[in-house]
Amino acid sequence: MMRLNHISDTYTLNNGVKIPCVAFGTYKAATGDNVGILKEAVASGYRYFDTASFYGTESYLGQAVKESGIPREEFFITSKLWKDEMGYEGAKAACADSLERLGTDYLDLYLIHWPQPSPDHRDWKRLDIETWRALEELYEAGKVRAVGLSNFLPHHMDNLLKNCWIRPMVDQIEFHPGYTQETVVRYCQEHGILVQAWSPIGRGRVLEDELIVELAGKYGVTPAQVCLRYALQRGVVPLPKSSSAERMRQNMDLFSFELSEEDMYRIGAMPPAGWSGEHPERERARL
Ligand SMILES: NC(=O)c1ccc[n+]([C@@H]2O[C@H](COP(=O)([O-])OP(=O)(O)OC[C@H]3O[C@@H](n4cnc5c(N)ncnc54)[C@H](OP(=O)(O)O)[C@@H]3O)[C@@H](O)[C@H]2O)c1
Repeated sequence: MMRLNHISDTYTLNNGVKIPCVAFGTYKAATGDNVGILKEAVASGYRYFDTASFYGTESYLGQAVKESGIPREEFFITSKLWKDEMGYEGAKAACADSLERLGTDYLDLYLIHWPQPSPDHRDWKRLDIETWRALEELYEAGKVRAVGLSNFLPHHMDNLLKNCWIRPMVDQIEFHPGYTQETVVRYCQEHGILVQAWSPIGRGRVLEDELIVELAGKYGVTPAQVCLRYALQRGVVPLPKSSSAERMRQNMDLFSFELSEEDMYRIGAMPPAGWSGEHPERERARL
């Protein structure tokens, strides 16, 4: 794997577009109509921002980008269409709405947020294909520089790969120590689809795990840094969210240590931990 030294170092997607190796997650990052957290993230050095129509943060992110005075091309902005925006017309309209809220005329990456609107949705195969056709056209029209998926499992991706002419470039899934969805990661890596990690520190749920705490002590870093470094060493793009400037900086400071092969195996084989309970084919599991 190529050596990464800074959050602005990039992977190359299967269409040639370069994507930074660490993003800033924006879910719940503008609580109370407050753009301050996003401005702080820009000031800290983050340039890759992950948002979605569902998060309600697009307009705040647009404001933070605009008021930074930094050229739009220096940012990498991802958004996603929500479950009730699926379908050919829905996806086209959703993208136009996201562009307007963000105050930009293109997205760097546009994702289908979930493969099916509900666990019992019978016709998800047709719906996904129609939605994807809209994304292909948005891509061809230059409205989005790359297109991809989120929370798609191998059978969902297989359906698209058999029916699409532009291959997905990304799948964004829940991924953190204690929940690494190996079947999905393997499928993506075999098909040239970059994996991104949502909740890369398990929204804090894995930070007290005894192995993660032990390794933090061993490497002289925090448990969150162990989780984020684990993703990086797996070739997975972590999207940490934080509301504190100190933790934002901590979450970027991932390049001065390296987890040993043995410790990577130990994390990979640790007992299940920190799962959100979200799965496209289940009602949210009670934890
Ligand atoms: N595609 C999807 O379906 C999907 C689903 C969920 C999330 N996402 C994306 O992934 C991003 C990240 O996921 P997430 O927000 O669920 O969870 P996360 O990044 O794993 O965790 C965020 C939580 O951890 C805390 N935290 C952050 N850095 C920390 C540190 N260094 N030490 C201790 N605690 C720390 C934050 O608290 P403070 O804010 O107080 O620092 C916050 O409560 C989202 O913002 C969103 O962009 C995508």
